[in-house]
Amino acid sequence: MFRLGDFDYHGKTVFLRIDVNSPVKDGKIISDARFKAVLPTLLYLLEHGAKVVIGTHQSKPYKGDYITTEQHAEILSSLLGQEVEYVEDIFGKYARERIRALKPGEALILENLRFSAEEVFYKSLEECERTFFVKKLSPLIDYVVNDAFAAAHRSQPSLVGFARLKPMIVGYLMEREVKALTKAYETGEKPRVYVLGGAKVDDSLKVAENVLRKGRADLILTGGLVGQVFTLAKGFHLGDTNIEFMEKKGILELVDWAEDILDEFYPCVRTPVDFAVDKNGERVEVDLLSEEKWLFDEYPILDIGARTVEKYREVLMEAKIIVANGPMGVFEREEFALGTVGVFRAIGESPAFSVVGGGHSIASIYQHNIGGISHVSTGGGAMLSFFAGEKLPVLEAFRISYERFRGVLGG
Ligand code: 3PG
Repeated sequence: MFRLGDFDYHGKTVFLRIDVNSPVKDGKIISDARFKAVLPTLLYLLEHGAKVVIGTHQSKPYKGDYITTEQHAEILSSLLGQEVEYVEDIFGKYARERIRALKPGEALILENLRFSAEEVFYKSLEECERTFFVKKLSPLIDYVVNDAFAAAHRSQPSLVGFARLKPMIVGYLMEREVKALTKAYETGEKPRVYVLGGAKVDDSLKVAENVLRKGRADLILTGGLVGQVFTLAKGFHLGDTNIEFMEKKGILELVDWAEDILDEFYPCVRTPVDFAVDKNGERVEVDLLSEEKWLFDEYPILDIGARTVEKYREVLMEAKIIVANGPMGVFEREEFALGTVGVFRAIGESPAFSVVGGGHSIASIYQHNIGGISHVSTGGGAMLSFFAGEKLPVLEAFRISYERFRGVLGG
């Protein structure tokens, strides 16, 4: 694969695909974690005289956090101490004019790439190559640098479409992510503990099945909705309110699959021994075996309980490798952040080599100043795809591009 140092960028136009899709509250971006993560690549290109055309997506059409990239431009400009121009266009005449006007060491950011219909479908690399996005921008671009690890599981025009047309180069963040995740996945050190939480239950089940079947994990600790599905699969009742919620989310049908995993890999999957419910705005902890479990019928489960955190902590302190994805509960509400913060903190304190990801939930690591984690991944879905053993389209595209253009390096 091509690395950043392989080319001379002076005076060259570089399309830099990043993923600074970020959490938004009341219309404002509330975390700059993904921006900071791509700064080294951006700085390298600017310092080496590139004219940088930045592209990112932000959320998906019709969602509440689907906004323009104007704020993204402001955040990048203030982190860099240099203007990154916001261009309110993607590949139209105006965008192309602004790209042509760039001088060495300058950068602009295109409009939210998903404002273009082509960018919201998942298509093959060949089809992505035939999009207007790629056709219109290709003549203006010399190199493509992809640092969007968090979107590496997506086959979309801006992510893979240039691979056979331009040298596609691995950014520093991408390189760091792939290295850390590969180390955690391929290591022979034991015990290897996976912590699976959050709401992407089907993706987490794929990870559990893959790492257990391939002998890459020794124990799986569960929380969030993943933990609730496994708890149901073990035969516990979690109350009507919670069952209805899971039914609405379409995850109740995953309980059978979770049961198959439990049967095949007993006793490698641990589930919470207690949960915290929201009783009219108050955190109330309920032991799974206690008389109080009727509370599950009336109140929603929003976190794992303190006893579970303690039990998980003991396991994590003994681990050699930890891979964690997704929160243990609704960490956005302070009273239900205890599980997520407690588990992430234990991971940070453990001497294990640890990789923690989960998209937006990673913000809680920064909010609570949790240190000691070996690698905080910017990836949520991308990280899950990686550990599910799937081929990531962006990594495939790097290989295809390298095969096509390696002659230009003269080697
Ligand atoms: C993410 O936050 O996981 C990435 O930005 C990818 O976003 P997507 O799931 O909307 O493709």
